[in-house]
Amino acid sequence: MSDYVYIFDTTLRDGEQSPGCSMNQREKLQVARMLEELGVDVIEAGFPAASEGDFESVKAVGDLGLEATICGLSRTRRGDIEAVARSLDTAQNKRLHIFIATSPIHREYKLKMSKQQIIDEMCGAMEFGKQWFDDIEVTAEDAGRTEIDYLTEYFQAAIDAGATVLNVPDTVGYVTPSESRKLYRHLSDHLKHDGSVILSCHNHNDLGLAVANALGAIEGGARQVECTVNGIGERAGNCSLEEVVMALRTRHDRYDLRTGIDTTKLYPASRVVTAVTGSRVQPNKAIVGRNAFAHEAGIHQDGVLKHAETYEIMRPLDVGVPENSLVLGKHSGRHAFSNRLEQLGFAVEREKMEELFVQFKALADRKKSVYDEDIEALVLGTEQSGPWHLDAISIHTEIEDTDQSAEASLKLRFNGQAPRIFSGRGDGPVNAIVNAIKSVLDEELHMEEFQVSAVSGGSDAQGRCTVRATIGASRYQGTGLSTDIVEASAKAMVSIMNRHHQHQGRDVNAPRVAAAV
Ligand code: KIV
Ligand code: ZN
Repeated sequence: MSDYVYIFDTTLRDGEQSPGCSMNQREKLQVARMLEELGVDVIEAGFPAASEGDFESVKAVGDLGLEATICGLSRTRRGDIEAVARSLDTAQNKRLHIFIATSPIHREYKLKMSKQQIIDEMCGAMEFGKQWFDDIEVTAEDAGRTEIDYLTEYFQAAIDAGATVLNVPDTVGYVTPSESRKLYRHLSDHLKHDGSVILSCHNHNDLGLAVANALGAIEGGARQVECTVNGIGERAGNCSLEEVVMALRTRHDRYDLRTGIDTTKLYPASRVVTAVTGSRVQPNKAIVGRNAFAHEAGIHQDGVLKHAETYEIMRPLDVGVPENSLVLGKHSGRHAFSNRLEQLGFAVEREKMEELFVQFKALADRKKSVYDEDIEALVLGTEQSGPWHLDAISIHTEIEDTDQSAEASLKLRFNGQAPRIFSGRGDGPVNAIVNAIKSVLDEELHMEEFQVSAVSGGSDAQGRCTVRATIGASRYQGTGLSTDIVEASAKAMVSIMNRHHQHQGRDVNAPRVAAAV
């Protein structure tokens, strides 16, 4: 069996299904370029049949000309398969990923199909897909709760129909590591093929076992791991890319396996995904959390100073944690700026780099010190991407004993049209902004969370406002950044509107069904 483990990244598909982690096209391209730099083998770019927006994003990733294989998800429907084929027609290396559920509970309640009907449906989809794809991955959704003999029969049919990769997801994060190993061992021992078919694992983290289960799967013979940066994904998330890669590398003595990942890009990759989604990793998150390499106890500090390996099984540099946090300022030149961008994990084209450098200089004129977070915000400019654009904001407050003492007027532009003013009143500036935004929407908006924090040190720090809200039935997260926190709040609200706009018209059943119980 090969000693190479393929890394299949699904940050842009399963990861994007995390509540509040939706990304716009520009952000997805940024993540895709970063994944290529990281060295992943396969990028699952999305589910093209889900909506026009998803189709366009998968197409845009395919058009980047990356070396990684670009994969599109599809149900067994012909329309879905055609959508993947059209969206990936320019991709250098492409893969079709077909899924249908196999477990008894899905067969009975969701699909209302017999075992044989499901196999026939999958084989029919394979036949149809083969006219565009040589590389086809077949998934048995909820494989973790599927009868093992039936699962073996399903995958044997997929092999006979020409599948190149067999994906065995634990869709609901139910199995344990030893069960996972046993399941893959069984499939490795019983499936008949010419040796070229790869077994793939896809583990959800509902019991906090996703990485352990992926390692169990690898021990049982899996040679592709489906994972996401920072472990984002449906509900409790997916197997974390950085954790599984570093487990294989750090415990090479145990596994004797390798991946194509440049581990020094893991930390920058995590930062890019955090900046794009606005979803921060917990401080004690393995590999990329703020405290992952921080030694607090005196005995530990003493040990590390004497010999790092006393308490460190990995070096921060191995995963790309920068030794220092370099602060740039108005005297920093192009070279220092582009160097820092690279260290932060951003692959930026020359023209874009020039544009960013001009913006960086303008920021450095306003702010004495420019920190990494400021640079990330410059590159991503999250709050202003989408059809809605905030041109200006004015706030009027009166010190009065009334619950409507503030008025906000937002000058908003939609798709470059002439600006319009939307106003709202409230018991403070933020409440007034929210009410002004509500007057734009034709669906109910509920605020769930509102946070403002300084992105860096210094009294001139930019404020980052993070808002979680639902519009209608969908939940969004938006961020806004400014040296003025009221403006940051308005930008965060506009970012929510842009994300809502992007998701309107999406076939809501399509992407969510993929991982729903
Ligand atoms: O969790 C799951 O079953 C999935 C499949 C579509 C691969 O995400
Ligand atoms: Zn999944």
